[in-house]
Amino acid sequence: MKQRILSGIKPTGRPHLGNYFGAMRQFVDMAGEFETFVMVANYHALTTVHNKDVLVSDTKDLILDYLALGLRDKGAAIFLQSDIPEHTEMAWVFECLTTVPYLMRAHAFKDAEGKGKEVSAGLFNYPLLMAADILLYQPDKVPVGKDQAQHIEYARDTAEKFNRIFGEAFRVPEAHIQSEGSTVPGLDGKKMSKSYNNTIPLFATDEEIDRAVALIVTDSKKPDEPKSTQGDTLYALHSLVSPHDLPMITKAYEEGGMGYKDLKALLAQNIKTMVAPLRERRAALAEDPHIIEETLAHGRDTVRPIAQETMRKARELIGVVW
Ligand code: TYM
Repeated sequence: MKQRILSGIKPTGRPHLGNYFGAMRQFVDMAGEFETFVMVANYHALTTVHNKDVLVSDTKDLILDYLALGLRDKGAAIFLQSDIPEHTEMAWVFECLTTVPYLMRAHAFKDAEGKGKEVSAGLFNYPLLMAADILLYQPDKVPVGKDQAQHIEYARDTAEKFNRIFGEAFRVPEAHIQSEGSTVPGLDGKKMSKSYNNTIPLFATDEEIDRAVALIVTDSKKPDEPKSTQGDTLYALHSLVSPHDLPMITKAYEEGGMGYKDLKALLAQNIKTMVAPLRERRAALAEDPHIIEETLAHGRDTVRPIAQETMRKARELIGVVW
């Protein structure tokens, strides 16, 4: 029996290189070895997106993005969170087991509060819907970027708490976070994130790639001066995008001999080489008017029985069926 992985991405704008190197590439790499469930977290997106047309189009786009990466060909089930009503049902059960002070320690909540934002009950309970997403499927591993590590801890704690109070219903999963790409920096050196407006979209056009790479912040060292690789955004992106050129690039950083202009041109070139086939594949897939519905039907049929079985067990253990 193969081990199982489950993960998800919110359909909130175009995925970027942070999503790719932090999460999506792992889904693709692991899909052969693991039974792979990949979700479009549209109910999580609802915490920030309050516009029907935007949510529909971002949802469809993310499905095409997953397909363009070849996830379906590798046997993954791609499904929509809102297609499986057990997620919100299970989340309610978890909300009844979880204390408010514990949820107040969540980074996303603290961050929103710190910025003086109005926090919806949905945002506050976000980690518990995510715990439901994960635990319903009894996965062994959850591949994510580092910024999701705390959420996986919440899911683990929740599984342990439920199992302790009511009896064994859940496997306690592990986060799977690769050291390389665990936090991909954005153009300004902060974590690459749609909300910081510092991204390089994964399916960007060549012009968009050129424009984004030109904006990467560097210091003002001259071409022949040695440069520090530590904490350098351009170097960090090269180490993900340019594995073949990396020995040469590292030497140029350590000994001097290459300016930031040329290092940026090389990065842009390597991103284009990586992205071009994905972009073409995506455009071809988008021509098929049935592909999204077909993909979601396959995903739903594959994953729902597993969610239903876990929910059945949980309902029995808590005492709402007998
Ligand atoms: P989301 O949509 O913000 O991000 C999707 C994935 O991309 C990773 N990521 C990054 N990794 C490295 N460097 C970055 N700069 C970077 N930015 C984003 C994230 O770590 C994530 O793995 N709550 C989740 C979605 C979710 C989920 C789940 C994930 C809902 N339910 C169940 C796993 C399991 C989120 O908002 O990810």
